[in-house]
Amino acid sequence: MYIGADYYPEHWPASRWETDAKLMKKAGFNVVRMAEFAWVKMEPEEGVFEFEWLDRALEILGRQGIKAILGTPTGSMPAWVARTYPEVIHVKKDGMRDTWGVRKQNCLSSAAYRRLSERITRAMAVHYADNPTVIGWQTDNEFGHPFCYCETCRAAFQSWLRTGYGSLDELNRAWGTHFWGHTVGTWGEITIPVDTGSHNPGASLDWHRFFSWQNVRFQHDQVEILRACCPAQFITHNLMGLFKEIDYYDLSADLDFVSWDNYPVWGRPAVRYDASYAADVMRGVKGRNFWIMETTAGPCGWGVFGPNIKPGEMRSVAYQQIGRGCDGYVWFRWRTCTAGREQYWHGLLSHDGKPGRRYREAAAVARELHALAGRLDGTTVRPDVAIIYDYDSLWAMRIQPGYPGADYQRAIGNYYNALFRAGVNADMIRPDADFSAYRLVLAPHLYLLADDVAARLDAYVKSGGVLLADCRTGVKDRDNLCHARTLPGRLSAALGIEIPEYEAIPDECSYPVKGSGALAGEYTAVKYADWIVPRGADALAACDVWHLKKYAAVTRNAYGKGAGWYSGVVAKESAFYDALVAAALKDAGVKALVTPPEGVEVSVREGKGRRLLFIVNHTDREQTVRVPAGRTDVLTGRKTGGELRLGRYGAAVLAAERRRVR
Ligand code: GAL
Repeated sequence: MYIGADYYPEHWPASRWETDAKLMKKAGFNVVRMAEFAWVKMEPEEGVFEFEWLDRALEILGRQGIKAILGTPTGSMPAWVARTYPEVIHVKKDGMRDTWGVRKQNCLSSAAYRRLSERITRAMAVHYADNPTVIGWQTDNEFGHPFCYCETCRAAFQSWLRTGYGSLDELNRAWGTHFWGHTVGTWGEITIPVDTGSHNPGASLDWHRFFSWQNVRFQHDQVEILRACCPAQFITHNLMGLFKEIDYYDLSADLDFVSWDNYPVWGRPAVRYDASYAADVMRGVKGRNFWIMETTAGPCGWGVFGPNIKPGEMRSVAYQQIGRGCDGYVWFRWRTCTAGREQYWHGLLSHDGKPGRRYREAAAVARELHALAGRLDGTTVRPDVAIIYDYDSLWAMRIQPGYPGADYQRAIGNYYNALFRAGVNADMIRPDADFSAYRLVLAPHLYLLADDVAARLDAYVKSGGVLLADCRTGVKDRDNLCHARTLPGRLSAALGIEIPEYEAIPDECSYPVKGSGALAGEYTAVKYADWIVPRGADALAACDVWHLKKYAAVTRNAYGKGAGWYSGVVAKESAFYDALVAAALKDAGVKALVTPPEGVEVSVREGKGRRLLFIVNHTDREQTVRVPAGRTDVLTGRKTGGELRLGRYGAAVLAAERRRVR
């Protein structure tokens, strides 16, 4: 297993490198990521390459058995690039070109930038293809910014649309340009929807798709070179978990595996739901395990910094990711920098370079993970539950949220967190994935629902699957036009309902919700309510206000061999989602191995006849978890009784019984 840190030898005198490498080795590290911001050090002038410094650093690291992942350095351009080719700097929304001096400033359509990017990538690839210390590549750094509004991007957008739509008639139809008389008569008339909230929603969605595609193409240029020159080295990129601007399914298609940058200590949530949610998205985008390429090593921040990572916390943060499919672990950064924007983004070593508490804790985690590596090998998370996670719906809902405050990721989060609390893993899948591998599929707020996806969901339920959908699912078609049908459109049969009307609930109002059966209890509808007419479904809850009494708020429909669940409200209480998810899980016959107490997370990795149950305490108090007796905690070798006691930020990995092969 590769474990290490992000390392910037160029920030320190060469005389220090040996000390760093030895300290890394002593910590059990065997990998660093480096060079992703060192373009000017490697190409100080256009076409002049200097790799001696990096060769030397690699040699020193290599002597200590430390391998390297090299970043292509295009995330931060040298001053000479901007001076020689001013057009490579992106143009902002206001039409002004940005000023060189931060990172991620390039226009992705710029031919000059693409050429320069290819040249430095090729120079590095040729130079390091056979270097035994270099095991892989990271493309650029955290793709995602900036959007550029220059004329070259506008022309590129037009030509991308032309390729996609083929004819102006088709584009006009897809965008619904008969509205406000916005029919375009030539490709050249098409503008960039600068304010995506006010422009045509179809154009705005396409602009987002185009931006995502530009990033994918920019990366592809580099990947082609790296594949050709360095066939033995892997290619990855450091993604950003729940980042919204890029379709990560597309971006990761070119990679061997994805990595991601996890900074969970920053906002200091009581329970780390989002770091798990993000990890599952990261495993989902390629349907395989991932690496952590950066993660919290100390207080984080630029101008101001946040809380420190507490004693023991490095371990719980790591086990959360390992339990969800992480196979390589890299802390950001090795040593805290004394210069530049990130002087307060603390590394494992402080400014003084002394190996202190954070270094020792990382070393202890590294030791433990190395010991676990053999058992992790060949295992991944293989849940019975999937959540559809769709970038088109995410973008379309940002363009036109519908009800105030509607947020696609948070809408999924309500269900995700309920599954987390229930101790049940889920895969994040795209709408065109194969649903048949799952017993339960959730499609919350699946705003953009193409007819073929709806038909496949219908067939899934008919053949025995359980579907849980909720409000705003199926409102739009693939072009971001409203379906001209009664909601939930093509899902009506599977869900056994019709929704003739709906409403937003203003912030200062809420509706009491009375549940029965599996949903017995009292809840509160906020933000939104569908007026649901059951057409065969059982009503399990209704809003207790005069105008909604005859409508349902939550329904279950027996359909074919399966069942379709639907919630037409956004509920204030997490207990609502807990009850709904528990009922759907039961319907689908999915049981958790362990039901964790609040603040404790469980996850299962399996494969090669092994099954490992990860139990992680995210709190700073001791927790007691009911677990099956007689299992071995592979971290300590101890057998479990019926109860497992976990100290603050404690973690255990239990060897669980194998289950049927799916
Ligand atoms: C990441 C980025 C790193 C570093 C870190 C801390 O997003 O990839 O280069 O900037 O944040 O700010």
